[in-house]
Amino acid sequence: MQVVKYMFQPHGDERGQLIALEEFKDIPFRIKRVYFMYDTLEGVVRGLHAHKTLEQILVCIHGSCKIKLDNGRETKIIPLEKPYEGLYVPSSMWREMFDFSPDAVLLVFASELYDENDYIRDYGEFKKYIADKEKEKSEGI
Ligand code: TYD
Repeated sequence: MQVVKYMFQPHGDERGQLIALEEFKDIPFRIKRVYFMYDTLEGVVRGLHAHKTLEQILVCIHGSCKIKLDNGRETKIIPLEKPYEGLYVPSSMWREMFDFSPDAVLLVFASELYDENDYIRDYGEFKKYIADKEKEKSEGI
């Protein structure tokens, strides 16, 4: 599985750091929604879903956490601990967020508005969704 990370350009000077993110330039899609998670309790696993169409960039702007990506065939665990690093999560990818430090703030840029119909929240359903997609592809549909 290819993991795509974006390294954002910090505009640092003697006062400190600043990162600016623009859609289609630093973020590879139109940003329709931004949300963030904080005060995540120890041992909590968030996410546990995939999206049919939505794409995301995850940035741990403070503290640290880990992201598990699963494309139905392979899994990878990616630590996020730098505010200038963005993890791209494409559609059809199961994700889990865990190991949040108490001070972690996980910022998410999403390509779509919140839509429960775009979620696959059952892992068995996700595996079937991937298998069906691959079958369609191999049959040239
Ligand atoms: P949830 O999907 O459980 O978050 P995660 O996937 O990170 O574990 O979302 C938690 C709650 O917040 C749930 O009631 C839905 C709501 N929510 C919104 O209203 N808008 C949003 O953009 C998101 C991501 C969640």
